[in-house]
Amino acid sequence: MSALIAPSILSADFANLQRDIEMINSSNADWIHIDVMDGRFVPNISMGIPVVEAVNRIARKPLDVHLMIVEPEKFVEAFAKAGARVISVHEEACNHLHRNIQQIKSLGIQAGVAINPHTPVSVLENVLMDIDLVCLMSVNPGFGGQKFIENTYEKIKALKGMIVSMGSKAKIEIDGGVSMTNAAKLLGYGADVLVAGNSVFSSPQPIKAIEELKSIQY
Ligand code: DX5
Ligand code: ZN
Repeated sequence: MSALIAPSILSADFANLQRDIEMINSSNADWIHIDVMDGRFVPNISMGIPVVEAVNRIARKPLDVHLMIVEPEKFVEAFAKAGARVISVHEEACNHLHRNIQQIKSLGIQAGVAINPHTPVSVLENVLMDIDLVCLMSVNPGFGGQKFIENTYEKIKALKGMIVSMGSKAKIEIDGGVSMTNAAKLLGYGADVLVAGNSVFSSPQPIKAIEELKSIQY
């Protein structure tokens, strides 16, 4: 079995975004990961609805949209209309997480929940049967190119145990600091989807970097 690979365009060259999306199109990546930041939930601002809409016009891979924003319920419909096929909201940003998940599912797309490094996986217990994806942040969200947090392995193990014992269909996505140095270990612990920004886009051969991640068997 191989992982789903989701290059993160946060590390793309925004002046050459079409070129970089076409690179992903021609690779064997599975999804395109798009990081949306509002300068409130995280200390940075990235891209929004018009960029997702533009990427969707040329992308030939499903768009995996990671909302690092407060009050995501105000925007999920617009992101779905712009072409998102998976939308993840942060548990820490939702007062009514269950309602937010139902809202995403009512739009006919996959629903994910992201949790920060400090948030225990146990907060997901009562929504795990309702969601398609858990995005485990393995860095503090807001920036690409950060160092992987080692405690993530224990969180994957605990979450995988919950998913298996409950019979949930949720996939485990790892976001932050993923590279060939930790990818095999992450998959061994139970990860299903690997987000990779810096390790793909800083590579002189990004298609090959994606292929290497994809070729790990577990
Ligand atoms: C961080 C973002 C990540 C980021 C990962 O807030 O959610 O998706 O792009 O980038 P790398 O792989 O460079 O750590
Ligand atoms: Zn992300």
